[in-house]
Amino acid sequence: MAKYLDCKNNYQKESIKEAAKYIKQGKLVLFPTETVYGIGADGLNSEAVRNIFIAKGRKQDNPLILHVSSIDMVERIAQDITPLEYKLMEKFFPGPLTIILKKKDIVPSIVTGNLDTVGIRMPSNKIAHDLIELSNTPIAAPSANISGKPSGTNIEDIFNELNDRVDYIIDAGQTDIGVESTVIRVIDNTIHILRPGKITKQDLETITEVVVDSHVLGDIKEGDKILSPGMKYKHYAPDSKCLLIYSKDNNKFIDKVKELEGKENCLVLCKTSNTKYFKNSLSLGETLEEISKNIFTLLRKVDNYKVDLVIIEGVEPTGLGLAIMNRLIRSCSHNYLELL
Ligand code: TXA
Ligand code: MG
Repeated sequence: MAKYLDCKNNYQKESIKEAAKYIKQGKLVLFPTETVYGIGADGLNSEAVRNIFIAKGRKQDNPLILHVSSIDMVERIAQDITPLEYKLMEKFFPGPLTIILKKKDIVPSIVTGNLDTVGIRMPSNKIAHDLIELSNTPIAAPSANISGKPSGTNIEDIFNELNDRVDYIIDAGQTDIGVESTVIRVIDNTIHILRPGKITKQDLETITEVVVDSHVLGDIKEGDKILSPGMKYKHYAPDSKCLLIYSKDNNKFIDKVKELEGKENCLVLCKTSNTKYFKNSLSLGETLEEISKNIFTLLRKVDNYKVDLVIIEGVEPTGLGLAIMNRLIRSCSHNYLELL
């Protein structure tokens, strides 16, 4: 059983000292960030990092992000950083952006799945920042969930799953954003989005040209070049059969769902304003921000309903909508219907 620290209603830097000590001792600390919770360990301690993979049941070729609290710390773990990469960090750090850089030898190969690059992110969440600063080491942290399950955005969702697998839990309530960070890599002065998030294509275009990797919405085909190992793995999928449906025309969406409801026992995850049309529905929220906050909690709930089919309403895949659609398409194992 993990030691539990309640920071939901009040937080002082002082209270995080013990958790930082746990990190220095090579233990696992579940901590909040602005995106999702992370399972953290000293990113320069191979044994500690190995325990993250064991705790999550994660494949060792899927690299971890190192979380930093300063640019100095970035420079301790990465090399050959270009002016464009510095510019991106200046503009978006701290915040929900992970940038893939060339790693220094000090970074153990277990962190990076033997790649010569390392994903680096500077969280804006105060507790995450303080934990890294007090530990005085980059913290390796994947999302807090057993591999394949939706990421944890509050402790209630993941307590049973992870309580016996980590040493320390910092509870700070619901995370702000709800989907994981945008992961990018600069290749030939172009930004490639490998995983979309709250920092959008449009945000990044204020710096330079941006390409969205084809696997952000598309499935992997034989012979494809995979820029991020995480793209290969099944993710966020409930056990129930799920179908993602999107139409620009709301009436078409409603008609299709009603048709399906007539044939099978369905549960519909849809916008609040659409719940009134269906027999059995759960609200995703109304705005993209609300939906992004809620999706992982809802995806964790659907199996309790024991239905034949879970229908999920998609959103327009632009801005934060691209991140939402990326997660939903995966949760439906690419079972996606777009109604034109
Ligand atoms: O918001 C987030 O990013 C959260 C919080 C805890 O910071 N972390 C998170 O970590 O989502 P994880 O491990 O669940 O997802 C990291 C993703 C994976 O898809 C991984 O393959 C990719 O980033 N990644 C990490 N290092 C990489 C590298 N060197 N090259 C390519 N992809 C990398
Ligand atoms: Mg994850």
